[in-house]
Amino acid sequence: MGRLQVIDHPLIQHKITLIRDKDTGPKDFRDLVGEVAMLMAYEVTRDMAVDTVTVETPIGPAVGKQLSGKKVGIVAILRAGLGMVDGVLRLIPAAKVGHIGLYRDPNTLRPVEYYCKLPPDVADRQLIMLDPMLATGGSACAAIQFAKDRGATSIKLVNLIAAPEGIHLVQTTHPDVDIYVAAVDERLNSHGYIVPGLGDAGDRLFGTK
Ligand code: PRP
Ligand code: URA
Repeated sequence: MGRLQVIDHPLIQHKITLIRDKDTGPKDFRDLVGEVAMLMAYEVTRDMAVDTVTVETPIGPAVGKQLSGKKVGIVAILRAGLGMVDGVLRLIPAAKVGHIGLYRDPNTLRPVEYYCKLPPDVADRQLIMLDPMLATGGSACAAIQFAKDRGATSIKLVNLIAAPEGIHLVQTTHPDVDIYVAAVDERLNSHGYIVPGLGDAGDRLFGTK
């Protein structure tokens, strides 16, 4: 089963509280989502491979470390995953960025696909898949399957807030995928929204609705 890591650094918890607040408007919401994504990326990349190298400082040789493992691909699950991309790119500026377009049918709660564009060498990359919300898990599972169908073999899923139902679905459907979240909430309501969650992440990011 995939590992679940709850990244509960005090800075992240503080920002998640502000993000949840219904009085936080779109600009602050966007800024905070980006900041939390950046802070989470620090932990998500902790196991990156490094080689030992030597560089010349103005004083003499220094032994240091240099990233050496798979290149990174960031995958945003549209729309709300877009809000996390810039934050992660600030830490990994060389990463290529893919997009998977999915929306959740409000009646069936099943994901509906409308777009997929991934880097061509996706099989050789460590993919970091971004979506603020993991609710039923349907969207995440579909996005992971999209990427696998195109050759991806190494995927990490990063969400701000997750429901136990979504974590369970991803862990059982894609046991090779590690999940990183900032908070695990109580449950889903009858409309498939996370309780207490933060409401509709896409609408709050982009000011729609
Ligand atoms: C939200 C969210 C996830 C999905 C989570 O997207 O950003 O992608 O719902 O729900 P699930 O785990 O039950 O699938 P939404 O469908 O609202 O689309 P949007 O980002 O375009 O607003
Ligand atoms: N999508 C959201 O944006 N929020 C939820 O709580 C569930 C799905």
